Amino acid sequence: MISSSSGAAAIGSKRDELRLLINSRNPIIIVETAEEERLVHLLTAIAVELCVPLYAWSVTTGLARIEGAPIYGTAEPEQALANIAEIRGDAIFLLKDFARYCDNDKICRRLRDLADAFRSTRRSIVISAPSLNLPPEIASESVPFAFGLPDADELARGVKQVLAEMSRDQHLTVTFDAASIRRLAENLAGLKVEEAMRTLRKCLLARGEADAGLADAVMDAKRSALQTEGLLEPVRRDVSFADVAGLKRLREWLTKRHNAFTPEGQRFGLVPPKGVLITGVQGCGKSLAARAVAGEWGIELARLDAGALYDKFVGESEKRLRKALDLSQKMAPMVLWIDEIEKAFASAGTSGDADAGLSQRLLATLLTWMQDREGGVFLAATSNNISALPPEMLRKGRFDEIFFVDLPNADVRAALFALHLRKRGRDAAAFDVAKLAAASEGFSGAEIEQAIAAGLYTAFSAKAQLSTDILLAEIHGTQPLSVTRAEDIRGVREWAKSRAVAAD
Ligand SMILES: Nc1ncnc2c1ncn2[C@@H]1O[C@H](COP(=O)(O)OP(=O)(O)O)[C@@H](O)[C@H]1O
Ligand SMILES: [Mg+2]
Repeated sequence: MISSSSGAAAIGSKRDELRLLINSRNPIIIVETAEEERLVHLLTAIAVELCVPLYAWSVTTGLARIEGAPIYGTAEPEQALANIAEIRGDAIFLLKDFARYCDNDKICRRLRDLADAFRSTRRSIVISAPSLNLPPEIASESVPFAFGLPDADELARGVKQVLAEMSRDQHLTVTFDAASIRRLAENLAGLKVEEAMRTLRKCLLARGEADAGLADAVMDAKRSALQTEGLLEPVRRDVSFADVAGLKRLREWLTKRHNAFTPEGQRFGLVPPKGVLITGVQGCGKSLAARAVAGEWGIELARLDAGALYDKFVGESEKRLRKALDLSQKMAPMVLWIDEIEKAFASAGTSGDADAGLSQRLLATLLTWMQDREGGVFLAATSNNISALPPEMLRKGRFDEIFFVDLPNADVRAALFALHLRKRGRDAAAFDVAKLAAASEGFSGAEIEQAIAAGLYTAFSAKAQLSTDILLAEIHGTQPLSVTRAEDIRGVREWAKSRAVAAD
């Protein structure tokens, strides 16, 4: 099992972070968020901790103490600020959607006056809005607070509420213990609170009951909800190391690292691994192995579609990348899979390319994240052409290790035949696997799989069973890439010899 202690630390630290901003006498704090309710919740908790009153203002209700009656005549923004100036003692003032009024000269001036006065007291104004565009005078007086997405602890609260509400209103039988609630919350991580609760309600209604399958249904629903983000695509964990032939050293390395996620390993002082880069010959299981890590470790898997960074959102790319990386952090523990990483970041090394500037910035975003991030996200990157990657990415300390996947040797080829025959419902013992392995020297795993697929066609149309002879005929009729592209493969090997660890 994976420890979720990092999640618990994260929520504590969010509250601590905001409390610290308030406590250290920052007069204006700006929060860019659409999750107002969540912010109110967090501020309420902080206000209780600090023993200060919390006021909220919106243009429809005016200024009011939380849970209290509105103060008469404070709906006008300017009037609200005048009233805030009159209120004595420590306090927190949450001004909802206030950014839009700050362009007005008088309001801007009043806010700055208040900021000056607040600097010597423990009084803070928190301005929230889905997107903040503050005039520079205000922006320079204020500190931003990054709210981020809710983690499992915060979501668990909502899950409990939704379950209670559904069992009351829809008469659903809900018998969930703390562990199942926790699991639901973990499966919803990555979504905003509202979105998460909507997803949960939808799944509950569709199933008609809160049964054991609910957690999986929620996970599937989340996958499709997150898909809309475009960049980060949750992937089903349907492969593990049992599906990978060879790559023994890589698998051993990964198996050892898994312990760093367990509570025992953490107590022992194991440092969570940050990631591997898997490079090498095409069709030999790089992408497969990267995907298999999540299945093997039993944690979330999402693919970062690096190609999509260049698509349509010109100018938005770095922001989107940053968002996707932050999102992955919220889903931790997870494996973040970047397939063929050179496609997104390769041209960063070469100038003159039209995309070079952009990929340089994207690379910087990725490297900064790789450097600064907390543990919990394991980056599994693959590359078909590592020599195209910028050297910064390969520097020590970015990836824990760089592995090179070569063409399979005879033993691994035999294992590949056995594995893929079994996958197609054939009894591997009925085939001369050693002979097949000997005949397929220079074949990649993908080409072996391909030979079996082709052999099945041949057998079917001949109304025969698949046999060793049919497979041998397919093998002899195939020119593997290692022959047709011998030059390239030699180059890849040469390059890797001094820079990477053999995966087998
Ligand atoms: N070592 C291997 N073990 C099992 N299957 C393999 C292996 N190598 C390749 N294959 C088969 O070939 C397919 C393509 O491999 P892939 O991982 O995409 O290669 P790469 O990313 O190295 O180009 C895999 O989905 C798998 O079915
Ligand atoms: Mg691949």
